[in-house]
Amino acid sequence: MKKILNLMEQELQKAFAACGYDEKFAKVVLSNRPDLCEYQCNGAMAAAKAYKRKPIDIANEAIEKLTSEGGHTMFKEAVAVMPGFINLKLSEAFLADYVGGMAAEEKLGLENVGKPETIIVDYGGANVAKPLHVGHLRAAIIGESIKRMGRFLGHHMIGDVHLGDWGLQMGLIIEELRDRKPELVYFDENYAGEFPEEPPFTIGELEEIYPAASAKSKEDEAFKERAHEATLRLQKGYAPFRAIWRHIMDVSVADLKKNYASLNVEFDLWKGESDAEPYINDMIQMLTDKGLAYESQGALVVDVVQDTDTKEIPPCLIRKSDGASLYATSDLATIVEREQDFHPDRYIYVVDKRQGMHFEQVFRVSKKAGIVKQDTPMIFLGFGTMNGKDGKPFKTREGGVMRLEA
Ligand code: ARG
Repeated sequence: MKKILNLMEQELQKAFAACGYDEKFAKVVLSNRPDLCEYQCNGAMAAAKAYKRKPIDIANEAIEKLTSEGGHTMFKEAVAVMPGFINLKLSEAFLADYVGGMAAEEKLGLENVGKPETIIVDYGGANVAKPLHVGHLRAAIIGESIKRMGRFLGHHMIGDVHLGDWGLQMGLIIEELRDRKPELVYFDENYAGEFPEEPPFTIGELEEIYPAASAKSKEDEAFKERAHEATLRLQKGYAPFRAIWRHIMDVSVADLKKNYASLNVEFDLWKGESDAEPYINDMIQMLTDKGLAYESQGALVVDVVQDTDTKEIPPCLIRKSDGASLYATSDLATIVEREQDFHPDRYIYVVDKRQGMHFEQVFRVSKKAGIVKQDTPMIFLGFGTMNGKDGKPFKTREGGVMRLEA
């Protein structure tokens, strides 16, 4: 369907032409004085110069033609205002008709995009084993909306929840579990049998284990060290920890799915940071071979500064000195995987705006290393925080945050 703005412009063009003025002056725009009118045409001022007449006369003349040439069914009001503005209000009848027309059209009159794109929308971003809190509404709802709008336009939208399932929280849970139930086979270094099918905890217990472990790690340096170690072993594929990880995933993802389902938020992909693991080594090798990644204080980094930078962009950390991978590592490796699986024309990340720098670095490395084509848009759509009464963002770790479920 034609846009209302274009339909109005057509009427104005007819009126201008009928008065002998070039129709290029009949441009209609949204009003910048909504108290006075809905739309306006400011062309009489420019036409005045071209035709050496007073703008208000031109405006009046055009309005007269407009209201006598059938435009009157469209406008409830068309008035000339000094020095020569044409203020416009649409008639209710026209609007009702237009909206009725939209309702009768298959997609509300929206035309499909000329060239559909394959677009990855990375949103949700829940962290496994941590209950969703009210702040998670942001990524879920904004991301879902973007995905649906894109789909409605005819794009091939792929929504990926990109779970946080590979980080320190896993090591924290593993070590907390060890402290609570050291008799479990996962902690017997000599155990060589099969691991149990049944998870050693319920979702309720898991949600209690994580905050307890997180709190403990802040007071107990040795515990924190163990959690780091456990995370690293998990990432390297240590079978007992992979088995615990599997349990955490099963229990937690079932709960996450339930929560997202009650919001009517649906993901096409339930991938996570862990899925990027198989791509990490090759990617790091590639970055090193291309001379992009180099060692700095034991860690592996890639410089991403550009001449046009107005603020400092620190190098992107690819691997820590102990060999552990980082947030950027898994995001980059995930992009490698997405390129291989989907060849996206565009990436949209719907994430807390405080992660802006991280994504800037990741995008730059992707382009610099040629993981993503130079002209593929990579968009970081950062949203703000949902704050408590103290004006500070909600946090799960400190407890007392409203759960999304509630
Ligand atoms: N899990 C992350 C967090 O809680 C958000 C993930 C966003 N997506 C991404 N590709 N990094 O901060």
